[in-house]
Amino acid sequence: MHGNLFLLERTGPTPSFFITIERPSGAGQPPSGAARSLTLFMHNSILVTGGAGFIGSMERDTTSIVNLDKLTYAGNLRNLESIANDRRYEFVQGDIGDRDLVHRLLNHHQPKAIVHFAAESHVDRSIRGPDDFIRTNIDGTFALLEETRAYWTALPDLERARFRFVHVSTDEVYGSLGPDDAPFCESTPYAPNSPYAASKAASDHLVRAYHHTYGLPTLTTNCSNNYGRFQFPEKLIPLMILNARDGKPLPVYGDGQNVRDWLYVDDHCEAIATVLDRGRPGETYNIGGSNEQRNLEIVETVCDIVDEMAPRLSTPRRELVTFVKDRPGHDRRYAMDARKIERELGWRPKETFETGIRKTVRWYLENEGWVRDVTSGSYRQWIAAHYSV
Ligand code: NAD
Ligand code: DAU
Repeated sequence: MHGNLFLLERTGPTPSFFITIERPSGAGQPPSGAARSLTLFMHNSILVTGGAGFIGSMERDTTSIVNLDKLTYAGNLRNLESIANDRRYEFVQGDIGDRDLVHRLLNHHQPKAIVHFAAESHVDRSIRGPDDFIRTNIDGTFALLEETRAYWTALPDLERARFRFVHVSTDEVYGSLGPDDAPFCESTPYAPNSPYAASKAASDHLVRAYHHTYGLPTLTTNCSNNYGRFQFPEKLIPLMILNARDGKPLPVYGDGQNVRDWLYVDDHCEAIATVLDRGRPGETYNIGGSNEQRNLEIVETVCDIVDEMAPRLSTPRRELVTFVKDRPGHDRRYAMDARKIERELGWRPKETFETGIRKTVRWYLENEGWVRDVTSGSYRQWIAAHYSV
């Protein structure tokens, strides 16, 4: 199994945040030879938050990575098995809202950048219980920004200028489109509709304010729906693949005509890496797949591929589609205008939906161990409670 992520250096058996590293004296002064090499070395790492989740476990094998992740139900170290012993990678279990921990991590690892993925990410869960969304997505981002600001302010000039804070956000902050509306662009007014979207919108505003007020070199990315390996099977595509495999009902909300713009996760990761490398501080970049599809079309495509790749059932899997009660406040349509990131930074998606969805279905069918691990205990309780009404 191939894990995804940005990697970090291991400093020894002691948890790294207990080690004190002296910065060279005289910020802004040229350090001595030994001190300078330590500085350059330490400043080559990136702090990733939420790196054990679906998207944060992305590949970036040229850099040292510290992965700060609370390991909620959505975080899974199995996503990172292939790099667990890489000396450039270090995992720290913890909460972005724990300011002491974040303070120690920043001062010990002296990262040159932060890529902030950590969030509560599932809309249905935010409707059932918004508290964790407020705590992590808003309060947690605020705590991270405050500690980052303190760390960044104390950096020597050159490193302060080079530092970057990339905030990973969503198209859901823009609200819902009508059938003939133009796709969301970076200047579309925010109109979040779910507690999840509102919490992400609040975090985006905080990030914006930290750039505007304090000059923190932040960049925000707003992306459409991702799909691919390692996505927790509470989300549409993996849930449908696994239910279809097992011949279970496929719960489609409402009339199944809601539209999402689907992007393969590796393309999203590459866009984030591009923004980190070449984006302009203070800017936001929309990311999307130019691949609008109705939910029912997605589910039917999944059914056909599972029919082809898994043992056949007595009837086509499309017959498992079951229309269920709609999601409250369900946004009708999302679509992203990603021309800015293409024009300014040269990013565009590489994977087509036809190839990406086949890879994704195959991965879920071939990785039964991973699926078994994540679909035990609390997962079963969620599915039972959520789909019983
Ligand atoms: P995910 O739910 O799969 O993973 C989230 C990760 O964050 C998990 O590893 C979890 O343990 C960790 N986490 C949660 N609370 C934390 C806390 N308080 N402290 C530290 N770690 C914590 O989410 P994902 O789908 O990988 O999404 C990552 C980011 O991308 C999120 O910010 C999300 O809003 C955004 N995003 C997701 C999509 C999508 O389609 N999945 C699209 C656009 C943007
Ligand atoms: O748009 C980006 C967002 O995409 C991210 O910010 C979120 O973190 C991510 O979860 C995703 O949100 P959605 O709500 O669009 O994704 P989800 O997979 O939950 O649902 C996709 C569509 O499928 C949506 O219209 C609801 C519908 N759906 C979902 C589930 C789980 C169903 O019809 N049945 C289901 O069982």
